[in-house]
Amino acid sequence: MEQYVINGGKSLAGEVTISGAKNAALGILAGAIMCDEFVTIENLPDVSDINVLLEAIAAIGAVVERVDKHTVRINGGTIHTEMVDYDYIQKIRASYYLLGALLAKRKNATVAMPGGCDIGLRPIDQHLKGFRALGANVTTENGFIHAKATHLRASHIFLDLVSVGATINIMLAATMAEGQTIIENVAKEPHIVDVANFLNSLGANIKGAGTDVIRIRGVQKLHGNTYSIIPDQIEAGTFMCLAAATKGDITLKSVIPKHLEAITAKLVEIGAEVNEYDDSVRVCCNRRLAASTVKTRVYPGFPTDMQPQMAAVLMFGKGTSYIHENIFENRFKYVGELRKMGAGIKVEGNSVAVIEGIEKGNAAIMDAPDLRAGAALTIAALATEGQSVIRDIEYIERGYEDFDQKLRGLGASIEKTVVPSGKKKSKFA
Ligand code: EPZ
Repeated sequence: MEQYVINGGKSLAGEVTISGAKNAALGILAGAIMCDEFVTIENLPDVSDINVLLEAIAAIGAVVERVDKHTVRINGGTIHTEMVDYDYIQKIRASYYLLGALLAKRKNATVAMPGGCDIGLRPIDQHLKGFRALGANVTTENGFIHAKATHLRASHIFLDLVSVGATINIMLAATMAEGQTIIENVAKEPHIVDVANFLNSLGANIKGAGTDVIRIRGVQKLHGNTYSIIPDQIEAGTFMCLAAATKGDITLKSVIPKHLEAITAKLVEIGAEVNEYDDSVRVCCNRRLAASTVKTRVYPGFPTDMQPQMAAVLMFGKGTSYIHENIFENRFKYVGELRKMGAGIKVEGNSVAVIEGIEKGNAAIMDAPDLRAGAALTIAALATEGQSVIRDIEYIERGYEDFDQKLRGLGASIEKTVVPSGKKKSKFA
């Protein structure tokens, strides 16, 4: 068990290079197994979620060659089973993308049912609805999902709700289905577009990604290629919030400013200065920021994955802020941790956080409840004088590559240490 030990209160400044997008990479790695030739994927983030999915892909028999920390070659031609081991789904939900990919490639797939998780129930009914519409027989028994089809046929699918995962999973399955499949009410996040662009680079025929309707004309076979993953919108947004909360001056390199528009707009609205360049963004702040109301929406609205980090900024804002979480039903578990720092934050119902801004917080010992909440606690601790400790940082390292190193590069006093045995959390904590 490791922890961050942070001596906060400094204004962070300098340059940070943003890694590849985790949530694009997960869909892309799954898509790569549909090809019986080598696919080279570059700009992979070196984070545990990616490394676990690569293990799952190797476990079903694909060739997985690590070229370097950020580059992998995959060849799905040697896959020998359509059964994904339970452990992998247990470790990362996104292993369920192998359902869509194996269904497309082998017309057969078995993956353990993903549990709920720290931010909500997260059912996958829309994924299964799409597979059934394409002609698959989908059953669930003993905690496993079995999807089989004699052949996959085109369909016109209307998603009941906008879902990133269902959009990607159904797009994967439809890539090799006969005829033209239309999927409506789809998610439009940058990572959806990146997965579609990746599949098209292998010879797929997918149009409309990034709009409300995706059209996929199935192909028999995919060919190898090399593809570089887009920069991570949420990692970038996290560092933008860090500059705002610590009254710093941070330049983010290797970003796509358009993907950050909702985050930029909100930070500018509360008084931060944001300058956009071709592939970088600079965020400066030299004053106490204003309060605001944030409502999480599907892209291009304010991303739910940035909601905790924005709370860490608004906890120091001048006045009362409101955060409406409209995507997940349990995404405020960080509130209790921020209150340990003296944050004037509380949750009303389970979808609105009300924040009475404070000028200064108190250093505290906190526990990261999930990936983005852990990032938010780190921001708040770095903005607060004194020594704070954040435990359960394995959550954070699922989605942020070299997080402590990148923070030290900006002048942060942060060390990663092993939790002293006597200090392990009591299970009744
Ligand atoms: C993806 O999760 C991301 N994960 C999440 O990021 C992100 O928060 C989320 O999209 C929303 O942007 C990955 O890409 C690996 P959804 P996903 O399906 O696909 C409900 C992070 O921090 N729903 O868009 O699971 C669902 O319960 C993670 O990197 C159904 O009801 O999200 C939720 O309330 C956290 N039935 C809403 O839709 C379904 O079949 C949106 O979920 C599918 C989803």
